[in-house]
Amino acid sequence: MQVKRFGVSLEEDLLKNLDKLVETQNFPNRSQAIRYLIKKNLVEDEWEGNEEVAGAIVLVYDHHKRGLQTRSTELQHDYHHLILSVQHVHLNHDNCLETIAVKGKASELIELSNKLIAIKGIKHGQLVMSTAK
Ligand code: NI
Repeated sequence: MQVKRFGVSLEEDLLKNLDKLVETQNFPNRSQAIRYLIKKNLVEDEWEGNEEVAGAIVLVYDHHKRGLQTRSTELQHDYHHLILSVQHVHLNHDNCLETIAVKGKASELIELSNKLIAIKGIKHGQLVMSTAK
């Protein structure tokens, strides 16, 4: 894709914030940081517009909790059309980390994620949103 150049005027404190972002996120330059911010905004719009998007649901739980894995599997089967892959890692004696890659309408992904995170015994859960475009 062709890259076009344009000038940006920014207040000093905003520019400082941009440079801080470049530094903390290790962007190679300001252009890359601005690109990231624009894309982030577009992705958020896709989610708000309930478009087809992709993402990941991350769950941490104690596998000893009675009924938890059965319930999680039931839910994942109910929503199998949204699930691309599931990775299960045994973190230590008690805890499991599950990463569920998902693609579908934003509202459906949120619905599935909310139901999974609400299962009794889930220690932490989060839906990470991204784009399918
Ligand atoms: Ni495990």
